[in-house]
Order: sequence, then structure tokens, then C-alpha cells
Amino acid sequence: MARVKILDKEFETSITEETILKSIDGVADKINAELADKNPLFVCVLNGAFMFAADLMKRISIPCQISFVKVASYSGTQTTGSVKQLIGFNEDVKGRTVVLIEDIVDTGITIDGLAKQVESMGAADVKIATMLFKPESCRPDIKPSYIGMNIPNAFIVGYGLDYDGYGRNLKDIYTLVK
Ligand code: IMP
Ligand code: MG
Repeated sequence: MARVKILDKEFETSITEETILKSIDGVADKINAELADKNPLFVCVLNGAFMFAADLMKRISIPCQISFVKVASYSGTQTTGSVKQLIGFNEDVKGRTVVLIEDIVDTGITIDGLAKQVESMGAADVKIATMLFKPESCRPDIKPSYIGMNIPNAFIVGYGLDYDGYGRNLKDIYTLVK
């Protein structure tokens, strides 16, 4: 167990890079099998999903495209409940199978807002691929199609996830020490 201090808080290792990458192998296998003939458009939700998207896309072997949107909903260790879109969609999603790539689905507000937006833009099918899922805090009607790992309801950093902008570069995932 390694500990890191980020700003005023202590975190300790909870999921190693090796475990993360193994779970991504599983997500990629499922997508490669299920979407082989769908020509999916992957949409990485920045900032947090950049690392997951990179490792996932290296394992996707079917014809596909990838694009990016940028949203912000967290301030410190709390969700603000409102989602600001900082970079929007510039692809034509009409008739496409769209796979939203998220780092983590917590309350589900962020990803549900984006999914509804993509649907209203005429996508044929919208799927959610998330590295991490907090089942205890998520709205029960939101069900990601592809989940790397279920995790308990605690604040984490690393592997793309941040605390006030810091910690995204950590290769393992760390949990806040109370
Ligand atoms: P939601 O809208 O509540 O599902 O929150 C989703 C967004 O909040 C994610 O895309 C993350 O960027 C951020 N987030 C949620 N939980 C955590 C966490 O434990 N650590 C860091 N960021 C988080
Ligand atoms: Mg995010």
C-alpha cells in the first residue's frame, strides 16, 4: 500500500494498474464481440476518461472512430449536480452507434445528460462504457453497458481521476483516507 498526499488530503492505493488493465481487457473483448458490425463512434468524456480511453482504444480491433467532448461537474470531492459542457459534439451522430467512454459513473447525472443529448441528435443507439461504477450512488435507471469495475462509494484519484485537478497522472487508483 502506497500513500500519496494531494493538496490537503491523504490517499492510499486501492486498485493497481495491473488490475485496471485486466478489467479493460474484459471491456474491450465484450465491445469487439458485440459491436463488430456497428461501425461505432466512441466519444471520450474529458478530462477524466483520457487514460481509460487510450488503454481501451488500443484493445479495440473493429472498425470505429473516436472523438472527444469535455464536461465538468465536480468541485473538490463533491459533485455539483450540474454539468457544464466545455467542448461539445462536432460529429454527425445520426444513425450511428455511439459509445460514451467515461472514467467513472457516480450519481450518473453527467453520463445521462450526455446520453440524452446524443439520442436527441439522432443516434441509432447510445451505449455507456465506464472504467468504474459506483452502484450505491448511481440513479437506478442508469445502467452502463460496459463496466470495468464496481467500486464502493468513496472518493478516488489516479488513472485520469482528479482531486481539484491533481492526481490524474497516477497510474494506480488511490482512495481517500478518512
Ligand atoms: P456523476 O455525474 O455524479 O456520475 O459524476 C461523474 C463525474 O464526476 C465523473 O466523470 C468524474 O469526472 C467525477 N467523479 C465522480 N466520482 C469521482 C471520484 O471519486 N473521484 C474523482 N472524480 C470523480
Ligand atoms: Mg469524468
